Order: sequence, then structure tokens, then C-alpha cells
Amino acid sequence: MKPEVTIVPSMMCADFVHLGRDIQGLEQAGVSALHWDVMDANFVPNLTFGADIVNAARQVSSLRFDVHLMVNHPDLLFRQLRLRQGDSLTFHPEAYEDAVTLLRRIRGAGLRPGLVLNPNTPMEAVVSDALVRDQDMILVMGVYAGFAGQEFIHETVDRLRAVAESPLVLERRIVLAFDGGVTPANAGTLAHAGARCLVSGSYFFDRSRTFTQSLLALRKAARV
Ligand code: DX5
Ligand code: ZN
Repeated sequence: MKPEVTIVPSMMCADFVHLGRDIQGLEQAGVSALHWDVMDANFVPNLTFGADIVNAARQVSSLRFDVHLMVNHPDLLFRQLRLRQGDSLTFHPEAYEDAVTLLRRIRGAGLRPGLVLNPNTPMEAVVSDALVRDQDMILVMGVYAGFAGQEFIHETVDRLRAVAESPLVLERRIVLAFDGGVTPANAGTLAHAGARCLVSGSYFFDRSRTFTQSLLALRKAARV
């Protein structure tokens, strides 16, 4: 039996005035992880939250944290974050020269390291002999990192498939997560192409549905 696809809500779409309430609601709805988009208005033209907010949330939640760094100094953020064993931390290869060293430091801290593949990132910047051994996950983007609610770029499905079929990735059993533009309309295709985690922002937090409804709709669509 194929493992179930994990649906991971993207917290940049949460209600920042009532962040604690949303975290509680997500726990009650039965999600298993929270995705945190840290942006610095520099690597990407948008600013979200930094280590203080993520660390404060970390104190009040038992869920797994999946932190996606869209910053020019991922090493700095890595040092400031107080994550728990088993949490994941990903960064963009364009943002840091010595990706291998940082991936190793992240793993050395008991976290699950990974790189992010933007739609225009050459695959070799993430999938290579030198890089795969130090990654537990790869985050494939369905939009250009920076904003929630962007239109899904269909060609990214082929990239996801190419990463999933890469012998290097298969051999090391790297978990593939997909982020950006995820809805029930494409969740099945993405799961079929190899995504094991689907990150969802604007669809998940659309307040015309409850968190439970969003979660179940995405889970159902992702069942392949
Ligand atoms: C985009 C972020 C995503 C974003 C997803 O830069 O990395 O996590 O919040 O939002 P949607 O699902 O609306 O594309
Ligand atoms: Zn993200």
C-alpha cells in the first residue's frame, strides 16, 4: 500500500492576530505538521516572520514543524531557530554557497535538512551526488517562492516527476514535498508524480471552509 500523502498547512496564510487559536484549530483538525515560510524581503520581495515568531509557536505546539527559509542568510536563521528533533529545515541553494556544510549542520542538530527547487532552479543545484546524501527531503515549488495565492505553474509537475524518478533520490529515499498552488484539483496529480507532502496556503486557509474540511478535501484528492 502506498503511504498516505501528508497535508501541511502553510502558516503564512494563518490569522496573525489569532495565531495561537489557528494552531490549536489545526491540531484539533488533525494535521500532523505546520509549514513556516520565513522571508526576509531580500531573497524574496516579501517579509513574513522570523525566528522569534516560529520559536514562540514551537513552545505551544506538539506538531512537527517544517520551516522553509526564503532568506539570504539561512545559516543565521538556523542558529536562531529553536526547533525540535525531527522538525525539518529547508533553504534555497541560491541563498548559500556551501549548501553541503549547512545541510550537515542542520542534520547534526537533529533536524531533517533539505533544499528547495524553485521553478527556475537547475535540478543539479539540488539533486547531485554531492548533495543528496545530506538531504532528508526536497521541497519542489509549484510557484516562485515569495507569495501565497499565486497561480500554479503546471510545468513544475514534470520537474517533480523528474526529481522523484532520479536514481539518486530513489536510492536515498528522500521525501519529496511540494509547495505552491496546491488545491484538490492538482493534489492527485502531484501525489502521483511523487509528492509525499503537500503544502497548502491559500486553499487550506480559505475561511469559507473549516480546517477539517480543507484537510479532508486535500487528503481525498491526494489519494492515488
Ligand atoms: C510561497 C510559500 C508557500 C505558500 C503556499 O513562497 O513558500 O508555502 O505559502 O501558498 P499557496 O498554497 O497559496 O500557494
Ligand atoms: Zn513554503
